[in-house]
Amino acid sequence: MLDKAKELLQEAEEFVSDIADEVDEFRIKYLSKKGGLITELFKDFKNVPNEQKKEFGQVLNELKNKVLDKVNFLNEKIKSKDTVKIGLDLTLSGDAKDFGSRHPISIVRNEIIEIFTRLGFTISEGPEIEDDLHVFSALNFPPEHPARDMQDTFFIEKNPDILLRTHTSSVQVRVMDNQKPPIRTISPGRVFRNEAISARAHCIFHQIEGLYIDKNVSFADLKQTLEYFAKELFGQNSKIRLRPSYFPFTEPSAEVDVSCSLCGGKGCNVCKYTGWLEILGCGMVDPNVLEANNIDSNKYTGFAFGMGIERITMLKYGIKDLRLFFENDLRFLKQFQ
Ligand code: DAH
Repeated sequence: MLDKAKELLQEAEEFVSDIADEVDEFRIKYLSKKGGLITELFKDFKNVPNEQKKEFGQVLNELKNKVLDKVNFLNEKIKSKDTVKIGLDLTLSGDAKDFGSRHPISIVRNEIIEIFTRLGFTISEGPEIEDDLHVFSALNFPPEHPARDMQDTFFIEKNPDILLRTHTSSVQVRVMDNQKPPIRTISPGRVFRNEAISARAHCIFHQIEGLYIDKNVSFADLKQTLEYFAKELFGQNSKIRLRPSYFPFTEPSAEVDVSCSLCGGKGCNVCKYTGWLEILGCGMVDPNVLEANNIDSNKYTGFAFGMGIERITMLKYGIKDLRLFFENDLRFLKQFQ
């Protein structure tokens, strides 16, 4: 009997495990009130010869304490390991945090702003929620112009019309309200149009508007400014060409193409084998617009231009789907450091 107890003591001493279930099995095997090894040995106490009772009692007590200590010790160890696993070990050093990167639209917007500020242009901003006067009327849009239509414009209120601006040309009007010529400013901002979302169109996008009004501003000044801009943004070998166009607020008006920077003008699928990419609209400020904004059109002339930042970013980086700019997928955004 005594030998059996000593054997169990030895076994209990040697037991190790880092699995909670095994430790529990060990506890039950020794300590269970029903059929536990120690419980059974205590029952046998009466059969032990008198001269061995003292030693047997000591060994049994030692065995019981050993098993209890062992169970506590192993459970503590398992618990502290679990804590480390779920990341609560306060002694560990911290995770390195990734820095974010600028959104490609911000990168290109800043680049465009930098080019024009080098030419002495200031930056002006205006509200995204606008009225009919600033978005249409003061820019010489006739009352029946389709751009005023519900299909293009997000109206907030009708009569008087409150709407989300459909272009940053509205900021021209606000600048002319507040400043006397000479005016030389660009206006970056968000614009809104009621368009179906696709790879080439979105209901929210970004534009940069430019306005230059002074005495003797000519179409040649416009062309020179835009050529400088295109070479700075797309590379010194870039060329531009102007095609006649129409905008209510400029006369004459033009659309500007830049030579395709991907194929160098030879023709590829991005420029649809023409060698040219359309980048902006421009023109001489219509005298009606100057007069509507209290600027003497006999004394002053000016030019204006407007471009979509998404479009320019797509051309610059060869991005095929405009929706990528709005999805905030880090795998896309991280490529623009
Ligand atoms: N506002 C025009 C648009 O959203 C772009 C534009 C064209 C702006 C010609 C101009 C301009 O200032 O002269 O399509």
